[in-house]
Amino acid sequence: MATLIWYGHGTWGLETAGQHLLVDPFLDDNPAAPVKADAVQADFLLVSHGHYDHVADAEKIAKRTGALVISNYEICTWLEKRGVRRTHGMNLGGQCQQPFGKVKLTVAHHSSVLPDGSPGGNPGGFLLTLPAGKIYFACDTALFGDMALIGRAGIDLAVLPIGDNYTMGPDDAIEAVRLLKPKRVVPSHYNTWPVIAQDAQAWAERVRRETQVEPVIVAPGQQVAL
Ligand code: NI
Ligand code: MN
Repeated sequence: MATLIWYGHGTWGLETAGQHLLVDPFLDDNPAAPVKADAVQADFLLVSHGHYDHVADAEKIAKRTGALVISNYEICTWLEKRGVRRTHGMNLGGQCQQPFGKVKLTVAHHSSVLPDGSPGGNPGGFLLTLPAGKIYFACDTALFGDMALIGRAGIDLAVLPIGDNYTMGPDDAIEAVRLLKPKRVVPSHYNTWPVIAQDAQAWAERVRRETQVEPVIVAPGQQVAL
């Protein structure tokens, strides 16, 4: 059994077999976050790309908790230069074994400059193989046809952006659901600011009507069981 919790925007906590994972930690400057960076538990930090709204609190939380940061090689190197001790650098298409399960760094179509202008490598998503099942975080991305390949893994829960403007929006996210064929889908990266405001309930209705997949909508602070 694993429990997913939304911290608003693209930030997700995941508790699996007593380990705490935190995806794209953006809490202190995140208007939708129900907790601050000094109050979250983390054994592992997963960072999808270099943008501030994904990497913002990674350094702070890694230093406080000693969590292992899993990201692309460039972001890991950048964090190490800033004093983060434990990192695991990857690149697209690679998979690694961790104490909680497997992590695969998947393709994302986006950009990845770090907050100080340093190159942030290629943006990615995460496919996690856990004892409770497979969960796919698309993270910040446009729609792409190879989501069909990612879906062949047999995804139990997909976390997809629906905010539009910076990532795919509601229409493309429906197409992504069709390609990925997960059992359930949870929307992400919306309603943080007016530019990415979306009606998640209306989107969930469309998922029910137009696909075979079960949508799950959570408010920031709410959990989903896997
Ligand atoms: Ni981004
Ligand atoms: Mn973003």
